[in-house]
Amino acid sequence: MYRDYNKTLIFNGSPRKNGNTAQIINKLTKLLKGEYKVIDTYYCNISPCMDCRWCRENSGCCIDDEMQDIYNYIQECDNIIIASPIYFSELTSKLLDVGSRLQTYFSARYFRNENPIIKQKKGAVILAGGGDGNMDKAYDTACTLLKHMNVTDVSPAVCSHTTNIKLALEDEIFINQLVKLADFLNKRYGQL
Ligand SMILES: Cc1cc2nc3c(=O)[nH]c(=O)nc-3n(C[C@H](O)[C@H](O)[C@H](O)COP(=O)(O)O)c2cc1C
Repeated sequence: MYRDYNKTLIFNGSPRKNGNTAQIINKLTKLLKGEYKVIDTYYCNISPCMDCRWCRENSGCCIDDEMQDIYNYIQECDNIIIASPIYFSELTSKLLDVGSRLQTYFSARYFRNENPIIKQKKGAVILAGGGDGNMDKAYDTACTLLKHMNVTDVSPAVCSHTTNIKLALEDEIFINQLVKLADFLNKRYGQL
């Protein structure tokens, strides 16, 4: 069904309720048009995939938890954002736990020869690191998760590399990147 506003799904990979990632998401959602939904991966009721292999033969996932609503939102949304601190050069473990539930989409394509998500989406990766500067691995992992959700247009990574020294929201270069990212996400597909 046609809608004239965007829906954006945001995965928050930080355990810190008012940390850099939470503050970045708060700022970004003020810049985004349309509606949005945030999944706080450290506080939601979403279990990791147990590799039970049910989805090799059935669509969806047999684990009955909050992820069921997220699967519905993934179908209909226009944008998906992965926002995470860097832990040992990777996305955080809870974000990867939630991400593991996207295996159902891999199973649909690979084992059942089905297309589980028709609608193409735009995506973004936002990373906060204390200071070692290595964001590539986390960005690649985030892109893999986005690809599973049929994100076909991912913006370059938006990173705050030095949160040990200053907050992400005090980093002017980072804020400029965030504003540009909001512009990219606010454009409807026909306007690209
Ligand atoms: C377990 C752990 C591992 C971390 N590993 C890295 C790292 O590899 N590279 C880096 O730049 N920062 C690393 N950090 C620092 C965090 O990425 C940084 O403090 C970040 O801003 C936290 O985000 P938040 O404030 O949104 O929670 C690590 C922090 C923790 C707790």
